[in-house]
Amino acid sequence: MNALQKRIIELKTERKAIILGHNYQRKEVQEISDFLGDSYGLSVQASKTDARTIVFCGVDFMAESAKILNSEKMVLHPNLKAKCPMAAMVDVKALKDLKAEHPGAPVVSYVNTSADVKAESDICCTSANAVKIVQSLPDKKVIFVPDTNLGLYVQRFVKEKEIVLWPGYCPTHVNIRKTDLQKLKKLHPAAEILVHPECTPDVIDLADFAFSTEGIIKHIVSSPKMEFIIGTESNMLHRLRKEARGKTLYEVPNATCPNMREISLEDVRDSLQKLQFKIELPADILRKARVPLERMLEAGR
Ligand code: 13P
Ligand code: SF4
Repeated sequence: MNALQKRIIELKTERKAIILGHNYQRKEVQEISDFLGDSYGLSVQASKTDARTIVFCGVDFMAESAKILNSEKMVLHPNLKAKCPMAAMVDVKALKDLKAEHPGAPVVSYVNTSADVKAESDICCTSANAVKIVQSLPDKKVIFVPDTNLGLYVQRFVKEKEIVLWPGYCPTHVNIRKTDLQKLKKLHPAAEILVHPECTPDVIDLADFAFSTEGIIKHIVSSPKMEFIIGTESNMLHRLRKEARGKTLYEVPNATCPNMREISLEDVRDSLQKLQFKIELPADILRKARVPLERMLEAGR
């Protein structure tokens, strides 16, 4: 641990804080996180922590979700530039218009949405439980926002329902190309291809499995196979190299999310020192957005 990381740990103790970090964070930020995980796992941690302050190292919607689940606690987002572009692809006005076109259809919003979009939704999901959540609804028609690719992935398993999609996408995952995976597979024929369900359908067709970030880690750690091609943000490799020692991992080119990489150790130190940047949301949004998030947590992974 370097001097800056040690200073962060001291500040964290003084502030009685917990640091939650997403699996796509920079290596040095992963190293000072109390919990690393996918969006689902981090929401669970946020809902059950007894720490007074939560420092959330991830993108905006993740820190907002932590605040929604802990409105009485201080939730700090160390760098406000860490925003998910997909979450910005749907807004309340557009969602209300879509709801008016499909009266009665419940809204399943991917957790990668703003707090006010969640407040207009019936239930949230993450990539870890999207299929289960959509399947759990009694309705024949469901509105799914904002990720078209995740919605198409869910549709593969839920044939009996009409899923109304929204044209949102993850710029990082649509950059992962089938041809790059094919080249890697040709070089390493024994390797299993693992991708995130935000990838395009042709990439998912080629993959052996599509899982959330935590699902990919769990699969590799418990698999008897020894070689894997990782079709998601390449910062995942840091945790995998620690937890899946002895396994060979191949990185797909161009798989970086610049937004997730915004948060530096200096940002985390300043966040704890100056108590910045506090997530503040209007009381009615906090109250309404909590309902779909809690429904998701009740449904489980
Ligand atoms: P996970 O919930 O699988 O960690 O994914 C979050 C995300 O933003 C993927 O791009
Ligand atoms: Fe958003 Fe995609 Fe980055 Fe995940 S990888 S935070 S979905 S832009």
